Amino acid sequence: MLLRLPGLIDPHVHLREPGSPHKEDFGSGTAAALAGGFTAVLAMPNTQPPLTDQASLALAQRAAQSKAYCDYALYLGAGVENVDSAIEQSHQVCGLKMYLDQTYGSLRLDSLNVLYDHVSKWPHTKPIAAHAEGISLAAILLLAGLHSKPLHICHVSRKDEIILIRAAKEKGYPVTCEVTPHHLFLSEEDIPHIGANRSEVRPRLATKKDQQALWDNLEFIDCFATDHAPHTLEEKDSDNPPPGFPGLETALGLLLTAVKEKRLSLEDLMARMVTHPRRIFHLPEQPETEVQVDTGASWEVRAANFHSRCGWTPFEGMKLRGKVRQVTLRGNVVYKDSEVRASAGYGMDLMFAN
Ligand code: DOR
Ligand code: ZN
Ligand code: ZN
Repeated sequence: MLLRLPGLIDPHVHLREPGSPHKEDFGSGTAAALAGGFTAVLAMPNTQPPLTDQASLALAQRAAQSKAYCDYALYLGAGVENVDSAIEQSHQVCGLKMYLDQTYGSLRLDSLNVLYDHVSKWPHTKPIAAHAEGISLAAILLLAGLHSKPLHICHVSRKDEIILIRAAKEKGYPVTCEVTPHHLFLSEEDIPHIGANRSEVRPRLATKKDQQALWDNLEFIDCFATDHAPHTLEEKDSDNPPPGFPGLETALGLLLTAVKEKRLSLEDLMARMVTHPRRIFHLPEQPETEVQVDTGASWEVRAANFHSRCGWTPFEGMKLRGKVRQVTLRGNVVYKDSEVRASAGYGMDLMFAN
């Protein structure tokens, strides 16, 4: 059966420009997005250099403008140096991204002072997105609550975290959250067959109990986000493997397989991949945009067929239901028969769409 969906929105991807185009760039990353049924992606600022000021932001904007095949918006990174100036870039970005824990790249805030000042100075009009695990989550929830600033918690992975977010929501805190397909479909029990190095990801793959808690609390999860974090196979298999999984080309297949298995409804999926991310990040509608999915088609995950440059996936060999056949974006067929049909630079920055 051919299912027609609106263009999906991924609120959390790493497209590696500026700095590491060998892992991914705006061309390969947005091609992977289209192949996965996404017509808009929100790109993270932990690049090289990180996107914390006008000069670095302009590097990413220029790369995206010339290469992107689907629509996008950029996050500004919260650093130690840009507490006072971040607001100047706020109209050009979809949100302020804060790293409260060690992940990949140099952006990490570990002083309460800096955290407090960023939260108090950032405008109310755009969300603060936070990588905040465990106790860091409690800290940022309090700060955002004190200042009534919209807070979006990235990639919730554990039972204690979703329970805390649920309690904060019930108290009326201005908080939303996302979960990744890899935390929904994998746990630490999958580490042996994926391999220890390749399994490195932050937040880490959690226990079965944590994984079940995410499914049990789906009503408190606003978005599905891939946290597409490509690193090459060579880097993943090295002595010092960087954390991160690619996710753009497997997310919809995994989630549609869950729909087929009745673990999720199609309405649940659409709310978390279209309506909620659009509302949370104030994204404009994409007119004349649709994704055609063959829901009857089964396929086997093969990284060799991916548009992403990273060359591997933790889901290799998995059999999924639902294949993206064609994507139309703003009236033009941009993806068909496994090939990108848009020209480089067709994608637009949604923060500059009038
Ligand atoms: O595993 C991760 N990889 N977690 C992050 O927070 C960052 C990401 C990356 O940029 O590779
Ligand atoms: Zn993160
Ligand atoms: Zn991330």
